[in-house]
Amino acid sequence: MNVLFVCLGNICRSPTAEGVFLAIAGRDAPHLMVQADSAGTANYHIGAPPDRRSQRAARDRGYDLSALRARQVETGDFERFDLLLAMDESNLRNMQRIAPSRELAQKARLLMDYAPQHKLREVPDPYYGGDEGFDEVYAMVTEACRNLLEDVQR
Ligand code: 4NP
Repeated sequence: MNVLFVCLGNICRSPTAEGVFLAIAGRDAPHLMVQADSAGTANYHIGAPPDRRSQRAARDRGYDLSALRARQVETGDFERFDLLLAMDESNLRNMQRIAPSRELAQKARLLMDYAPQHKLREVPDPYYGGDEGFDEVYAMVTEACRNLLEDVQR
């Protein structure tokens, strides 16, 4: 199972999802050999580490995102990954636009499809907001990633 998490810049939401998902998968289901990566639909931050506010929110809960580096989504990702999970509808539309075929485009979905009980369908972009937005991202992403891991285990 190989999952790609996708947001706009690949410095806030999707690296949080990648880091949390790999950590809980390694801890709770090491036999599954799950793989994950993250990418952004935009090219603004290629090569950059996660935003310091995302790193702080993750570090406060015991997750280290410091080694991650931003990259842009590419067409080949639809071949390499089993599932491409977008943080919001805009990310999803942009991914569907670069998908090499209609069939492969169906691998792209919203991350929050894995948390149908949550009141929000999209993980809000925290970049221009305060620290509380980064805590909300952490909480939403963690809820969805736990459910995703349970889904993979079944
Ligand atoms: P992300 O957040 O998509 O969760 O990584 C953003 C990061 C940077 C920008 C926007 C959103 N930006 O406009 O530079």
